[in-house]
Amino acid sequence: MARIIPVSSGKGGVGKTTFAINYAISLSKYGRTVLVDLDMGTSSLRNSLDCEIQHDLYHFFKKNVPLDRCVTPLGPRLDPHNKLPLFGFIASPMGMIDEITNFHEKYRDLLIEGLNSLKASYVVLDLKAGLDNRVLDFLPHTNTGILVFTPHLPSAVYTAAEIVKATLFKKLRVIFSRNSPIYKRLSGLDYYKLFNDLLDRIEDTYDQTFPNLDALVAELDGGVNQPKVVSFIRSAIKDFKIYYVLNRFNGIRESAESVVTPFAKRLSETVTEGLRMMNLGWVMDDDEINRLTAQRIPAILDRVQPARTDSRPRDHVEDRLRELRQLYVGLGKTHAQTAAPKKIEKATAATAGTLDEQLQVLRTMYDSESKKGYRENFHYITLRTLYLIRERAVEEFGDIRLGRTHAEMLQGIMRGE
Ligand SMILES: Nc1ncnc2c1ncn2[C@@H]1O[C@H](COP(=O)(O)OP(=O)(O)O)[C@@H](O)[C@H]1O
Ligand SMILES: [Mg+2]
Repeated sequence: MARIIPVSSGKGGVGKTTFAINYAISLSKYGRTVLVDLDMGTSSLRNSLDCEIQHDLYHFFKKNVPLDRCVTPLGPRLDPHNKLPLFGFIASPMGMIDEITNFHEKYRDLLIEGLNSLKASYVVLDLKAGLDNRVLDFLPHTNTGILVFTPHLPSAVYTAAEIVKATLFKKLRVIFSRNSPIYKRLSGLDYYKLFNDLLDRIEDTYDQTFPNLDALVAELDGGVNQPKVVSFIRSAIKDFKIYYVLNRFNGIRESAESVVTPFAKRLSETVTEGLRMMNLGWVMDDDEINRLTAQRIPAILDRVQPARTDSRPRDHVEDRLRELRQLYVGLGKTHAQTAAPKKIEKATAATAGTLDEQLQVLRTMYDSESKKGYRENFHYITLRTLYLIRERAVEEFGDIRLGRTHAEMLQGIMRGE
């Protein structure tokens, strides 16, 4: 079963495509990886990779070519020694084809179905920048996938906070949808209307009666007096994970001031104080990345010494995973804890720190990683990803299946109930 990992950002120009390409190539050393261009209308993968493309999403949508056959390998120009056979990408169509570029429902459903059944271990999605349905439909409901920030574009944190809010609200809307089992526990009032009215008011940024989800919880706590529902919402919030990487990184202080702190503040003001964000690493600001990108060469491919890209011995990876286990002690759920729900409460209650803890983790990482170049940076982020996928519960990171309808999403959300 593939793990779907969406990459998104509050604004364009943060390096999302550059990150997604190099990250997906790095991941492919550990399993078949397909990178998908969902930033329709920009042809960004096509323009960033010097490859011969036979089939793209146009052929999938219009010519009935199966999605697996629309995958393009790196090919002889970028990978002359065939060192990266497990990497492939799916390009978006050239030019503008309205029903595809704007994801008319039929095409959206087809695509989701196709992505869900791609033959790969990792499916990385290069999404559009900003917030709209072409982004929201491809984000998991239990975590954000990977958000990319850069200290060079600090205002992207505000839209990123809106992406988080919209994702979390999507989850709550599903939980409170008509056929939700949550109503089996409630009787008397029209709770469907009540909950959805409250969500409307919080989501309406212009209505300040309920500025964020904490206000909703307080209202339900006092007014509706439904402790089960309240605790359900609380855990939906508490279990929701936000992951980000810092691109064009130039030191802890600048990133903390321009990105991490304002992002955390914005989230607690507009969404809730109880959210957990986690840094997965950073990518140095390096002119070589820029220079190679302009030549349509992924910077992580070491063209001079192609063997270097996968010469790392496996046991080194196991050592690093052990180190990461230390870093993550107490953060989030492990596979074992998912099977035993009582332990989850204990583990997460003990780790309810936010900004301070976040900055501390960043400093700890910086101590061990600061001197390293961008190749090492990508390797580190890849290891963090593998750690999350292999050792944490499935809902912690990315998604294993994108839902098309509320009913499908409800199934996914209630899986652990
Ligand atoms: N770590 C980095 N160091 C230097 N330049 C970078 C880095 N990451 C991205 N860039 C450059 O920034 C520009 C925008 O990157 P791109 O990936 O197209 O952004 P996005 O997909 O977010 O719009 C590109 O010219 C790219 O080469
Ligand atoms: Mg892009």
